[in-house]
Amino acid sequence: MGYWIEPLADEADLDGVLEVEAESFTNPWTRDMYAWEMRNRSMCHILLVRTDQCRVAGFCAFWRVFDEIHINNLAMRPGFRARGIGTALLERVLSEARQLGARRATLEVRASNEGARRLYERLGFYVAGVRRSYYTHPVEDALILWRDEPELC
Ligand SMILES: CC(C)(COP(=O)(O)OP(=O)(O)OC[C@H]1O[C@@H](n2cnc3c(N)ncnc32)[C@H](O)[C@@H]1OP(=O)(O)O)[C@@H](O)C(=O)NCCC(=O)NCCS
Repeated sequence: MGYWIEPLADEADLDGVLEVEAESFTNPWTRDMYAWEMRNRSMCHILLVRTDQCRVAGFCAFWRVFDEIHINNLAMRPGFRARGIGTALLERVLSEARQLGARRATLEVRASNEGARRLYERLGFYVAGVRRSYYTHPVEDALILWRDEPELC
């Protein structure tokens, strides 16, 4: 399937991101939360996956904080999953992070989210800690993952 990855551009893109959120998470981020992100573009970055048929097939939202990126959300619409696109999107995020001067990346993932955990582990993330009962709907532990640039290991 043909697709491309580019930064979020406008409010219509935000509508697409909110749809993907609703299709992917039990407690999705709200429009107000993303409006804050869009007002803080020096720190907040959102990359979209587009196809000819779908304006927003998936997205990743992350913050760059000094030499780290904090990946807040990563999701593909259900019909676009398991085709390698989520991996390509995360690889692109890590590449952009390097260009922004980041040397480490972190994120949280539900302990039971085996598909996402496999993806992260394949790209070099490791479990560094646990936040007990961090998630709601349902209540569940979060694993705290980190990834260091290989040349710094
Ligand atoms: C996690 C997610 C972004 C991965 O995107 P994707 O495009 O499906 O990823 P890929 O096709 O590159 O596959 C990555 C890995 O996840 C696995 N995977 C993808 N979808 C899966 C699913 N529905 N169930 C189980 N495993 C799945 C793939 O098998 C692959 O692992 P493998 O190659 O070792 O078998 C996507 O599944 C998604 O949006 N999930 C819901 C939201 C979510 O959980 N986000 C992560 C929050 S931390």
